[in-house]
Amino acid sequence: MSVPVIAIDGPSASGKGTVAKQLAQALGFHYLESGALYRLVALASLRAGVGPDDAEGLARLAQLLEVRFAGDRVFLDGADVTLALTDERCGERASRVAPHPAVRRALLERQRAFRQPPGLVADGRDMGTVVFPDAALKVFLTASAEERAQRRYNQLKQKGIHANLRALSRDLAARDARDTTRAVAPLKQAADARVLDCSSRPVDAVVETVLAWWRESRSGTSA
Ligand code: DC
Repeated sequence: MSVPVIAIDGPSASGKGTVAKQLAQALGFHYLESGALYRLVALASLRAGVGPDDAEGLARLAQLLEVRFAGDRVFLDGADVTLALTDERCGERASRVAPHPAVRRALLERQRAFRQPPGLVADGRDMGTVVFPDAALKVFLTASAEERAQRRYNQLKQKGIHANLRALSRDLAARDARDTTRAVAPLKQAADARVLDCSSRPVDAVVETVLAWWRESRSGTSA
């Protein structure tokens, strides 16, 4: 039997990362934050001076990425880049890097390699549609634009990073527009995904709902 995957997709700052991490912990599954890979390519490109329109250069960077995930930390070429990855400039660049088919292709196998027993929770934009189309459970998390901007603002503030709520809100809207309208693997709900609006719902409640869906889906397949 193949290793089960729970795919959690949704727009920026919808809370999917927090939810996916807690789910993975509750189930003892591995966790893939696919956005981190796009952010890593973005960071590498900013450092190497490779422009956001240089598809070939970006794909090469994506292929050669020397990455290590260790718990909550991410290492690029041996250096801890966890904080740098959360920088909004990196997120913004990531959404410009992500539309290139060659970049997405270069990251595909890397993402699929995270599928290890006993299971995987993967979050991103195309987990249920492209990377793990056979995921056992697909969830599409949404939240209002205001709530998402506020969430990202709080996250950054907690990390001691200065941010402006109105500018954040504007940037998130632009990023969502790019992520949903790109030609390849756009952010969209898989036909067989279950939708959950997390606006004004505590993370624990969202995690509980998804866990209930998971148990439900398992009881249907255990026979
Ligand atoms: O989830 P995030 O905000 O860290 O993602 C950063 C960018 O990476 C996002 O704007 C779009 C891109 N991305 C993607 O295209 N596909 C994914 N599976 C995950 C992220």
